[in-house]
Amino acid sequence: MSVTQSDFRKAMGCFATGVTVITVDRAGEVHGMTANAFTSVSMDPLLVLVCVDHRARTHAHLHARKRFGVNVLAENQRAISEYYARSPEIHQHPEEAGASFDRTAHGTPVLHGALAYLECRLHTTQEAGDHTIFIAEVEDVVVREGEPLLFFRGDYRSVGAPIGSLSGSENQEAPNLGKTGNGRNT
Ligand SMILES: Cc1cc2nc3c(=O)[nH]c(=O)nc-3n(C[C@H](O)[C@H](O)[C@H](O)COP(=O)(O)O)c2cc1C
Repeated sequence: MSVTQSDFRKAMGCFATGVTVITVDRAGEVHGMTANAFTSVSMDPLLVLVCVDHRARTHAHLHARKRFGVNVLAENQRAISEYYARSPEIHQHPEEAGASFDRTAHGTPVLHGALAYLECRLHTTQEAGDHTIFIAEVEDVVVREGEPLLFFRGDYRSVGAPIGSLSGSENQEAPNLGKTGNGRNT
């Protein structure tokens, strides 16, 4: 049986992910790209990867700058995801989508209000079909409280209620144990 691109998209759409915006400095401007083909790779050294389409402008920018940020979007940042999934030459009005940025000491743009930020330095690249896998070392991280924006079957979602274990009533209560602070480690 031959798998079509549509079949492949549908199957991959079942794999719910978070949503990130990859940020890279481009001659003093912030260039951003929405990406969910992002994952951790290694603990020692700390490595992550992101897969970038050869046609994306970000592809050339990552090769040129060799440093980028990965901003994990919070559930109220859908407009920012949509904004950076479009491809104007330069993103002129990020504030209209609610996006504003700080800079790290390396000049990498950091998105305000993101759930987490990872500052990355390019380690290696691997060509893979019509995408390039950018593997990068994590130099710094920032983590904030909050809930993530999710992407599932082509739609944005928010996280639902925690699912308890089915193996017993005691374990079914487990998701709330941390909140009551009774010291049990589940
Ligand atoms: C939820 C979501 C996830 C995406 N993930 C990726 C991805 O992992 N890699 C990629 O190359 N494009 C991804 N895209 C598409 C890019 O965001 C889009 O092509 C963008 O316009 C590229 O911008 P650029 O040309 O300025 O780099 C995604 C789009 C959406 C909406």
